[in-house]
Amino acid sequence: MEINNLFNELIPKIDQRLDALILEKEDGINEARKAMRYSLLNGGKRIRPILLLEFYKLCGGEGDGALNFAAAIEMIHTYSLIHDDLPCMDNDDMRRGKPSCHKAFGEDTALLAGDALLTLAFSAAAKTEGIPPQRVLRAISVLADNAGIEGMVGGQVMDLRLEKTGATPEELREMYLKKTSCLLKATAVCGCVLAGADEECIKYAAEYADSLGLAFQIIDDILDCTADEKTLGKPIGSDEKNGKTTFVTLYGIDGARKRAKELSKNAESLLDNFEGDSTSLKELTKYLLNRSY
Ligand code: IPE
Ligand code: IPE
Ligand code: MG
Ligand code: MG
Ligand code: MG
Repeated sequence: MEINNLFNELIPKIDQRLDALILEKEDGINEARKAMRYSLLNGGKRIRPILLLEFYKLCGGEGDGALNFAAAIEMIHTYSLIHDDLPCMDNDDMRRGKPSCHKAFGEDTALLAGDALLTLAFSAAAKTEGIPPQRVLRAISVLADNAGIEGMVGGQVMDLRLEKTGATPEELREMYLKKTSCLLKATAVCGCVLAGADEECIKYAAEYADSLGLAFQIIDDILDCTADEKTLGKPIGSDEKNGKTTFVTLYGIDGARKRAKELSKNAESLLDNFEGDSTSLKELTKYLLNRSY
C-alpha cells in the first residue's frame, strides 16, 4: 500500500478515537481537558498508533479492537512531549507547529494535562473490547514497563544526567534505546500480543522496534540541525542550546545518517521473519528514515 494511503486510512480513525476519549465539558476542570486536547489533536505524525495497528494486522488481528490501545500509546507519547518541552526539561516553546502546551496554558496546567493523559491512556487501554482479557492484561503490562522508569522515563532521566556530563557512544545508545525505542517497542509488541501472535514474532517485533527507535532518534537529531522550523513544527537547534551529546555531535551529519540507514535496513529485514504481508510496515520504516519532520 502506498504510504499516503495508509496514513489517509488510519489517521482519521485514530483521531476520531482520541477525540471521543476526551470530551470537553462545562465544569471546573475543563481548562486541563482543553490543554490535553490542544496537545493531542490536530498535529503529530501518529506513527506509534499506526505502527501498533499495522503489527496487529500483520499478526492476524482483525477489526477495530486495538484502536483504544493505539490511542493510549499516542496519549502517552503526547504526555511525554508536553513534559519534555517544559522549562525544567528541554525548555522548548513550540510543538507540532503551535506554542508548546505550557506556553498556551501555563506550566501548572501543562504538567497536570500530561499527568492526566498518562492516566487516561491506561483507562482507555483497559477498556479494550473484543480481545481476550489475558492479551489485554499482558499488553497493559508491556506498555507500563516500557513507558516507565525502566523504559522511556528512565531514558529521560539519563538524558538529563548526560546533558551535564556529556555522553560516550555507548551511553548515548543506551539512553536512546530507553527514551525513544522503548515506547516504540511497547507499540510493536502490544500490536502482536493483542493479535495473539506467538513468542517468536513478539521477539522479532521487539528487535525491530529497538532498531527503528535508534534510527528514529538519530533522524530527530539530524533534523534538529538541518530542518526548517516551520516544516519541523518545533524549534531547531534545541539540542545545541541544551548542550546535548547527539549522534550528530559524535559522528557528524553524514556519519549519523549512515548509522540511521544501517539501523533502518536492519529493522526492515527483521520484518521478513513474519509470515504475513509486511509491505506497508517496510514502507513506513523507509518513510521514517527519509522524513523531513
Ligand atoms: C518526537 O516524536 C519525539 C521523539 C521521540 C524523537 P515524533 O517525531 O513522533 O513526534 P510527533 O508525534 O510527530 O509530534
Ligand atoms: C524526546 O527526545 C524523547 C521523549 C521521550 C519525549 P527529544 O527531546 O529529542 O524530542 P524532541 O526533539 O523534543 O521532539
Ligand atoms: Mg528531550
Ligand atoms: Mg525535546
Ligand atoms: Mg529532538
